Amino acid sequence: MDNNIFYKDAARYWANVPSTIDGVLGGFGHIADIDIAGSKQFLDQLLSIDKPPATKRALDCGAGIGRVSKNLLIPYFDKVDLVEQDEKFINTAKQSIGDDSKLGILYQVGLQNFKPQEKYDVIWCQWVLGHLNDYDLIGFLERCRQALAENGLVVIKENITTSDELEYDDEDSSVTRPVKLMLKIFEEANLEMIRTEIQTGFPDDIYPVHMFALKPS
Ligand SMILES: C[S@@+](CC[C@H](N)C(=O)[O-])C[C@H]1O[C@@H](n2cnc3c(N)ncnc32)[C@H](O)[C@@H]1O
Repeated sequence: MDNNIFYKDAARYWANVPSTIDGVLGGFGHIADIDIAGSKQFLDQLLSIDKPPATKRALDCGAGIGRVSKNLLIPYFDKVDLVEQDEKFINTAKQSIGDDSKLGILYQVGLQNFKPQEKYDVIWCQWVLGHLNDYDLIGFLERCRQALAENGLVVIKENITTSDELEYDDEDSSVTRPVKLMLKIFEEANLEMIRTEIQTGFPDDIYPVHMFALKPS
């Protein structure tokens, strides 16, 4: 598939999705609270490892309307930056988070073209990496690795196939990867997995959602 078409189709899909929790979660707004609870548990574990990340600055990648920033990252970190390519989602994120001094820089750009400008303790990527092809995903993760502060971690929370195959969704122009391919991509990006968990409490008829914590290898 032509890369330009893959990225353009995804941008067009999200441009037509309403700026709501249900919109960014593809009709699964009702799982938002369980999702955040699972993420908090995972983040708490990461903050209590030997040599944990600091809590000065986090980055929310593919931030949508700022759901993860507002409910998960801002309560933990002094400053949270967002990267999101859709203009209306960025505007909703600003409104929804409001006049919070913890809200940092909002970058309106695709992750395939994003070059971090700051150092981050945690870079959180959720339900977005299926919008990058393997080549761009490796490049993006390499740039994330270089943008980590001391003891910093990249956290990935994504749908994972139950088959060994990559599955393409032509509705939103994304792929869902098998765990084996994710691990290979982490290795290529010189990232080492230090912890992984599968989110519990989600409906049975959706993809399993895996969380991965990665440090520079
Ligand atoms: C399923 S939503 C998830 C939003 C948010 N991470 C959350 O969990 O609430 C996917 C988001 O990724 C954004 N997106 C899609 N392709 C992207 C890309 N190439 N770069 C950055 N953001 C992208 C969409 O605009 C949308 O906001």
